This record gives sequence, C-alpha cells and structure tokens, in this order.
Amino acid sequence: MDDDIRDILIGRASIAKRLDELAAQMLADHTEAGHEPAELTLVPILTGAMIFASDLIRRLPVKMQIRVMSISSYPGDATTSRGASVEAALTRIPESLAGLHVVLIDDILDTGTTLLKASELLRAKGPASLKTCVLLRKERDVPPVIEADYVAFSVPDEFVVGYGLDYDDYYRNLPDIAVLKPEVFGGDGHSDDADAAGER
Ligand code: XMP
Repeated sequence: MDDDIRDILIGRASIAKRLDELAAQMLADHTEAGHEPAELTLVPILTGAMIFASDLIRRLPVKMQIRVMSISSYPGDATTSRGASVEAALTRIPESLAGLHVVLIDDILDTGTTLLKASELLRAKGPASLKTCVLLRKERDVPPVIEADYVAFSVPDEFVVGYGLDYDDYYRNLPDIAVLKPEVFGGDGHSDDADAAGER
C-alpha cells in the first residue's frame, strides 16, 4: 500500500491534534453558560466519514446517539460527483429530530452536493440545531454550494485518500491523508480524472 503513495498531505499526529481542537470547539458551541453540554446526535455519512467520526466521538464526553446516513454520489468509475441520492437501506435517521442537537459529519467537502442534500434531509426533520462538520475541504476554483460549520483541514484540489477516504474502496485504513502516485489512477491524480473510481 505505501508504495502507491505520492505524498502524505496530513500526517496522523496533525490529525490527532486537530481533532482535539475540533472536539473542544464543538463541545463549547453546544454548552450554554452554567450548564452541562447538550446531548448530541451525531450523523456520520458512510463510508468515508467512519474513521474520522469514530476518532471524533471519543473526544466528546457527552450523552450522544449515532445515526448513520448513506449517500451515493460517485456511481461507477468516476471521481467527479454526479449528484447525490440517499441510500435508504443504509440510512438510520428517525422520523423526527425534534429537540435534538444534530451534527452531520462527512469526510470531504468538494462540490458540496452531498452535504447540502444530507443537511436538507436532516433539517426537514426539525432538529433543535444542525451543524455540519467535515474532515477536509477542497480548495476549488468554484466554491462549494454549502459551507461546513466545522472544517478540520483544507486540501488542494486533488484526489485524496486515507483516514477513511478511498480509491476504489482501498486505502481507507491508511492512518494519514495522502495523494496516490499518478500511475495508480492511470492519470495525473486530479479529481476530474474520468477513469479513477471513487466509492464512499
Ligand atoms: P461533493 O462533491 O458532493 O463530494 O461535495 C463529496 C463526496 O465525494 C467524495 N469525494 C472524495 N473521496 N477522495 C475521496 O476519497 C477525494 O478526493 C474526494 N473528493 C470527493 C466523498 O465521498 C465525499 O463525501
């Protein structure tokens, strides 16, 4: 696996440090002065946010529920989003989110289509509050259609893998965030290389 890596963009120590900061900020934002932090409902989007979310939630010592959501945006062999649709069979969101403080978690904010779709679905269920949190935000020429409330890191507009992010469902277990060698894609590694496959 390591032979396929061109560059490590963000190493595991930086990720761990940034997650400490992010969790502290999230706790503070959900704590009214003189009160305990509010109960949270965390909604990770499968599969890419799995590792990020599992490390983040262990830094949040609050009463919490976890409700997963699955969204398909990369059908077949593409690295550019082709719209986003909710996969009902893998999505576990209750009918109503009334009274709940929800934090939606995704791996990477690219065009923003996925985060917008997911947050619209959650907002329609009437949560007390809704925040969005992403591990990575791509620095694109065209800004995303939605911004996230919490962003751990910005990355250049390249196809990245590791720490939950995949290429053809591989490399999710890489502890760092990295860019693959071009020969692995059969292109230059840019996210619009048509033949590279990206699965959630
Ligand atoms: P949008 O365009 O909807 O895309 O913001 C978000 C989803 O697309 C996937 N994505 C990537 N996956 N490396 C990946 O492994 C990348 O560089 C990348 N860019 C986008 C990801 O599933 C994200 O949730």
